[in-house]
Amino acid sequence: MSNTGKAISTVGVVGSGIMGSGIAQLCAQSGYRVILHDVNQGSLEKAHERIQERLGKWAEKQGEQTKTFEIIVGNNLEDLANTDIIIEAISEQLEAKQQLFSKLEQVVSQNTILASNTSGILISKIASVCEHRDRIIGTHFFNPAPIMPLIEVIHGPETSRQTKEIVIEFAKSLNKKPVEVQDVPGFVVNRIITPMLNEAMQTLEAGIATREDIDQAIKLSMNHPMGPLQLADYIGLDTLLHFMETAYVETGKESFKPSQLLKDLVSAGSVGIKSGKGFYEYSH
Ligand SMILES: NC(=O)c1ccc[n+]([C@@H]2O[C@H](COP(=O)([O-])OP(=O)(O)OC[C@H]3O[C@@H](n4cnc5c(N)ncnc54)[C@H](O)[C@@H]3O)[C@@H](O)[C@H]2O)c1
Repeated sequence: MSNTGKAISTVGVVGSGIMGSGIAQLCAQSGYRVILHDVNQGSLEKAHERIQERLGKWAEKQGEQTKTFEIIVGNNLEDLANTDIIIEAISEQLEAKQQLFSKLEQVVSQNTILASNTSGILISKIASVCEHRDRIIGTHFFNPAPIMPLIEVIHGPETSRQTKEIVIEFAKSLNKKPVEVQDVPGFVVNRIITPMLNEAMQTLEAGIATREDIDQAIKLSMNHPMGPLQLADYIGLDTLLHFMETAYVETGKESFKPSQLLKDLVSAGSVGIKSGKGFYEYSH
């Protein structure tokens, strides 16, 4: 592994949902060769179509209609063998992430950096099943990844300084602002924001105000672009629930204890914009 961000030319992205597709698009438009992997062929095809369309629009906006992007999709993990960094963006479940990281170690070289886009699972827990933990790190992008400027860079206790330096250079090459964060549940952003989303759900559940009025109140008082219930739908209620359940167990903080309303919506398959229904209804 050389010492600069230029050590990276091929990026693997695992998971082609909301975040994986955005990260793959961002890396492709920043000039990296991208290999996007998902176990679900349907999700992969939809993501590929969406990414091509967005890359086309992006190139047009930049006045670079002739620009070509290298983005390969596949559902075979071996396709990721010759990558310099892999960014994992699969479901927010520790076991699933551990299984994936363990399998990835069998496929890639010892120099490939393995990064997780987890919303708040401890990097040390994901890394605990791996042999080479020095190359494991958190890269927490925000939704939509091509637009939001922040990346939280989370170093676990065994992440090497070299891995961290390469990832920080890589983040800058994507035109993002990396912030270094300790390996604690929720890192910085979700440690602060998720209790607010939870409180908004409990406010709705208690009948204190309508969903629209809760969102308006926060938007207009805090100058936030979205209300907390809209933001929850945008993130994905399943992702939020998985995160909150883990953070509640890890920290014991009541502010992470998921509201009954959130659990009921997820059980009913209403997981936000991606399913067409959450706190609000959406037509795709
Ligand atoms: N949604 C957000 O706003 C947001 C923001 C920051 C971080 N995150 C984190 O990013 C990760 C992905 O979230 P998302 O919202 O994109 O989820 P999503 O549900 O939209 O997509 C997850 C994708 O992963 C695929 N997948 C699941 N298991 C897999 C496996 N073992 N191998 C390959 N593919 C697999 C699924 O088929 C699906 O396409 C989560 O850890 C989440 O907490 C989400």
